[in-house]
Amino acid sequence: MSEKVIECINLNKYYGKGSNSFHALKDINFFVNRGEFIAIIGPSGSGKSTMMNILGALDTANSGDYFLNNKNISEMDSGELSNIRQKEIGFVFQSFNLLGKTNVLNNVILPLIYNTQIHIKERKKIALKFLESVSFDMTKIKNKANEISGGQMQRVAIARALVNSPSIVLADEPTGNLDSKTGDFVLKTFQKLNKDEGVTIILITHDEYVANSADRIIRIKDGMITEDYKNQKTKKIFSN
Ligand SMILES: Nc1ncnc2c1ncn2[C@@H]1O[C@H](COP(=O)(O)OP(=O)(O)OP(=O)(O)O)[C@@H](O)[C@H]1O
Ligand SMILES: [Mg+2]
Repeated sequence: MSEKVIECINLNKYYGKGSNSFHALKDINFFVNRGEFIAIIGPSGSGKSTMMNILGALDTANSGDYFLNNKNISEMDSGELSNIRQKEIGFVFQSFNLLGKTNVLNNVILPLIYNTQIHIKERKKIALKFLESVSFDMTKIKNKANEISGGQMQRVAIARALVNSPSIVLADEPTGNLDSKTGDFVLKTFQKLNKDEGVTIILITHDEYVANSADRIIRIKDGMITEDYKNQKTKKIFSN
């Protein structure tokens, strides 16, 4: 039996009020089953990051219902919400959102510090394991996050998203600023995580090539879903 992890019912999102208000998401309806790998594709300004913020419970819609793990977000208290964000969802933000002045290792350890069950030494081991798993240049783990290349920053952002073993990964343009080889590496990492560990992946992109690495494609334009279909030619990414 498939299990719904995400369900959006008639979601609408407005920015601003009154005559300056902007209707960023319009009657969004879709659901996601556990273990799916979905790409949400649309041009710049179509509402992708707005959608990611709502799906990740970082922001709320103005109307409609959003269910995460079958629970209405509007009925969760702030404790439940932060718990679900920390333990269930791994975020890869469009602009990385690393702490620039903090070293790489501590950036990746950060999501683990809220997990009191994991001993300090263990946290470091886990962070190192995930940095290695994304082929980070391990000679740079003590560098400040703003002292490494964009491709390396992206790997740190992905390692940080994965350390808590989330059941859902939300990645906003995770290959946006990368050369094609590093981009392929990132896509392959997501495909592997999805196939081997059953992690639900929602990949946000403006790029057809990137979207083709997913099994299902949702197209969004001017805040509306225009298409939602199974990708018949999922591109298996090979890279090293
Ligand atoms: N805080 C805000 N206040 C007002 N308008 C906003 C705000 N955030 C986004 N918007 C507007 O909402 C629309 C959707 O923005 P969003 O960031 O979701 O687009 P996007 O698809 O992620 O674009 P990109 O590909 O450039 O990242 C845009 O027209 C944007 O200008
Ligand atoms: Mg965006």
